Parts: sequence; structure tokens; C-alpha cells
Amino acid sequence: MSERLRIALTKGRLQDRSVELFERFGLDCAPIRDPGRRLVHAIPNYPLDAVLAKAPDVITYVEHGVCDLGIVGKDTILEKGGAFYEVLDLGFGVCRFALAVKEGGDFYGGYETRRVASKYPEVTRAFFETKGMDVDIIKIEGSVELAPILGLADAIVDIVETGATLKANGLQPIETVARVSARLIVNTASMKLYKGQIEDFIARCEAGLEDRT
Ligand code: PRP
Repeated sequence: MSERLRIALTKGRLQDRSVELFERFGLDCAPIRDPGRRLVHAIPNYPLDAVLAKAPDVITYVEHGVCDLGIVGKDTILEKGGAFYEVLDLGFGVCRFALAVKEGGDFYGGYETRRVASKYPEVTRAFFETKGMDVDIIKIEGSVELAPILGLADAIVDIVETGATLKANGLQPIETVARVSARLIVNTASMKLYKGQIEDFIARCEAGLEDRT
């Protein structure tokens, strides 16, 4: 008997790319494309229900086992951590975490403790810990590029995709902190309980990735 698996998809750009992947290997995603007011979307031709969530909530749902699977960016995984299996790099949502400073700025010169602003304090802390460098980390909720412009910080750690946002604000990346892309994650208990079904789903995702032209 096949159980219905439940998957949490990160809303927005990753949601669109996830649906494209699922459709490539034959899932009927009409219920996700046209959700109406429903919050749980049953795939009619495969034993899978999908819910849409903000990235950190995808991890929360998978960790707690209310969703067996999840699709979430490596950025959120690095920042939030958690106990789950990361089984597949889906190859979309590609960007990087970068350390950036004002154009021409000398971040590593001088002796005073540097201030670094980020929406991702844990990623920032881990990066400077590997360098054995003590920095003050200031958590910012949005438009972190403002922090060096306003003089609040010497540098930022943020997501860079094209680099256009940094450039438009007179900033430049000086180091890559981590590569980021969308990942398929699995609840640890579900992996044991529904091994066959989950392996089937992972294999279909892998085939869907290989099909890409
Ligand atoms: C990210 C990041 C930058 C921008 C970088 O924000 O915080 O602002 O993308 O992209 P670029 O290098 O192509 O200019 P995002 O659009 O993900 O929204 P957010 O601020 O809500 O995280």
C-alpha cells in the first residue's frame, strides 16, 4: 500500500522551479498552479500532497515530521541548521553568500574589531570562526546593503546572484562565503518508514534534473 507523502515547497521562485521539475517527470501540478484558497494541494497522479511555506518553515515542518520532504535553499539550511537528511542538490536557485565592502574598502587592514551586518548571523559567525577572526555581527532584517552606506558596518554578508544590487549601491564582493542552491531534504523517520517511496521520488527528481536541456 502506498502512503501519501507530504512535501513542503519554499514559496516564490523556488516554488516555480520545483513545479517545473515535478512536471518534467510527469506529476500533474495543476492544484499547485491554481491553489485557490486551499493550503494542501493533492497531486492527482502520484501519492504526494504539497504545502507552500516560507523557507525556515519548510525546515520546521520537515524536522517535526509533519512533512516527509521539503525543498529549500542551502542559504536557509546553513543559517537555521536542523536534523534532517539533505539528499539532493536540485541545481536551481543558484547564488552565493558573499562578503562585500564599499568599493575600494580595505576590510582586513587595521586592528580594530570589524562590524559585519547580515540577515544571516549564523552563516557570518561560522565564516569568521573558520578564519579565527573576531567580528561584531549586527543582525539586519532587510536591505542589508544600507548598513555600510550608513556607516553601521564595515562589511556585509549577503546573497549575491548577479551582483547588480551590490554594484548599484557602491559595494563589491571580496570573498565567497558559501555556494547556495535548492536542496531536497527528508525527515529522518520518514526516510526509514517510507524508504521505497522516498527513494522512488528522489530517483524521479534526479531523472528530471538529467532531462534538463
Ligand atoms: C537578495 C539579496 C540581494 C539580492 C542580490 O535579496 O539580499 O538584495 O538578492 O541579487 P543580485 O546579486 O542579483 O542583485 P532577495 O531578492 O532574495 O530578497 P530578500 O531581500 O527578501 O532576501
